[in-house]
Parts: sequence; C-alpha cells; structure tokens
Amino acid sequence: MTHAAKVLELLYERREGFFSTDELARAVGCGHPAVTDALSQIRQAGHAMEFSPTDGVRLVRPVRLDARLIERGLGPGRIGQSVICFDEVDSTNDVAAEAARQGDTDGLVVVAEWQRRGRGRQGRQWLSPPGANVLMSVLLTDPAGKLPHEAITIAAGVAVAEGIETACDGLVACELKWPNDVLIEHHKVAGVLVELRRRDGLPSVIVGIGINVGASPGPSETDLPATHLAAHGGTDIERVEVIRAVLRRLDAWTARVAGGELAALHDAWVSRCGMINQRVTVVSDGVRHVGRVLDVSPLDGLILCSDHGERVHIPADRASLAY
Ligand code: BTN
Repeated sequence: MTHAAKVLELLYERREGFFSTDELARAVGCGHPAVTDALSQIRQAGHAMEFSPTDGVRLVRPVRLDARLIERGLGPGRIGQSVICFDEVDSTNDVAAEAARQGDTDGLVVVAEWQRRGRGRQGRQWLSPPGANVLMSVLLTDPAGKLPHEAITIAAGVAVAEGIETACDGLVACELKWPNDVLIEHHKVAGVLVELRRRDGLPSVIVGIGINVGASPGPSETDLPATHLAAHGGTDIERVEVIRAVLRRLDAWTARVAGGELAALHDAWVSRCGMINQRVTVVSDGVRHVGRVLDVSPLDGLILCSDHGERVHIPADRASLAY
C-alpha cells in the first residue's frame, strides 16, 4: 500500500477528527517529507482537506469516492476484490459490460461520480447530479449458470435495502416494490438494473445499482416519487459506507443464490414488501395484467391471481408496475 493510500485511509477513518503531521508520520512509519508528499497526492486525486495550524489536517466530508477505500472495507468475498472509480462514464453498466467482453474479473465493481447516459429499467433514464449519489455496477461471471437473472434481480433489491439500513445505522427502514425498487416511506431511494451479457457463449450478469444518497432527481425524471438518504437525517452518511455495506450484502446473497438458497431469498424479499394481497396493474411485453399479488418467486417473478381468476407468472425483466 502506498503512503498516500495509507494516509487517506487514516484520515477517512478518523472522520471529523484532525491528524498532526507527527501522528501521521508515526502511524505510517515514514518521515515528514513523505507525509507532505502523500497529502499532496491525496489533494491531486481530488480530495478536499482542511488544514489547521493547531490541529493538523482532516478530510472535508463527505469524501470523494476512492477505489482503495471501498476495497479496504470489504471482506474476502467474491465481490469487490477489484474496484474501479471514474469521474464520469456513459453508464457504469456499459463499463462492466465491456470488462465482461474482455474477459475481465468476476466480482469487478465499477463506480462513477457521474453518468452521462445512466439507464433505468424499461428504457428509462437514471439521472443523478455529479458527486452526490451511488452509481455502481457489479460484474458476476456465471459460467456454470448458477445465477438466474430473476433471482439476482430479487437478491440485489434485498441487498440494497439491507446495505442502506446498515450504513444508516437504523435511521431508515427500506421497503421493496417488485421487482427491485427500494423505497423509504413510499419514496424511491434506489433502483437496480440487471443486464445479461455473453462472451463465447458464457453468461455474465451485470448488476447496476443507483442509490440516492445526497440528492433526489426532480419529479419529472422518475417513475415514482423520489427521496435520498440525507433527507432522512443521513446528512453525514458517507457514500463509501453505503457502497461497502451494499456490496457485502450482495456478496452474501449472491453466494446464497449460487447455493440454491432461494427460499431464504424469497422470505427476505417478502418480509420487506407490502404488495402481497394488494391489487396491482402490471404491464409485461405490452400486455396489461390486473390482479391480486399472491407471491413473488425468485425464479418465476410476480405471481398474480388475475381479475379473471387465472394464476399468472410475470417475469421481472420485461415488466413494470403501472401507477
Ligand atoms: C431503475 O430503477 O430504473 C434502475 C436504475 C438503475 C440505475 C443504475 S446507476 C448505475 C447503473 N448504471 C446505469 O446506467 N444504470 C444503473
């Protein structure tokens, strides 16, 4: 690990507290010139710092996203061994898809401060101002076909809900709306776009996740009324913490899906969903289905009892709820 990476991590972990140059030099095991050099590299990487003649230096919060900081907070799991951060991209899902095309790493995480052409489900845009929110994609190579699209869609929604709650330390409670909108008090705080790619016939799953942390998109830009974590008292929530918590939960749920633990996934999803027994309208492949929600299956999608008394299974990838 470079001196700059170590200093950045120390400053990040100290939160609002300052570090004197002496203390940094001791903690890193280097001299003052190396600390000065490290601080200038950190500044060049775009991190804002505050210097006090009496107390030393600290990072200005909230911090800019940093791949090493994200990686350091993850366990030894499949997801996040390799993280890349961009200032701007067209779409993090496109970057992950390109990595899949080039045969890149399973578990790769792509994060961006801004997307020029962020995509939502059903051909919608996903808009987010620069530097405010979480925009990331996870690449899962799936040569053995153990990660069905439908189940990963459901798992990602649960992982995002759980990760947000952990990062916010119980400040918010997340509900799920099929297939994987994450809501706080009936307002959408996060969305998931799962896409499939094939390379030499072998499938990869790309899990794109957008979480509103510091800002919500305008009302004309969303399918549902939107919210963001800062609006629920989470003004000091760091995006790095949200990303780490969500990736840890996604790693755990991906392992459970690969291991066939779909009953546990079903229960986790249903316990957060107020749709069971509700009457809904769903449009799938241009066809309108109206009926009562019986259940959500991690493999077969939404299960409705239609107004005509038929049992209908609606897969998530081509369907959306009508409001
Ligand atoms: C939805 O609710 O419509 C899904 C939104 C998914 C947005 C994320 S942001 C990161 C990733 N890159 C994209 O272009 N889209 C997903």
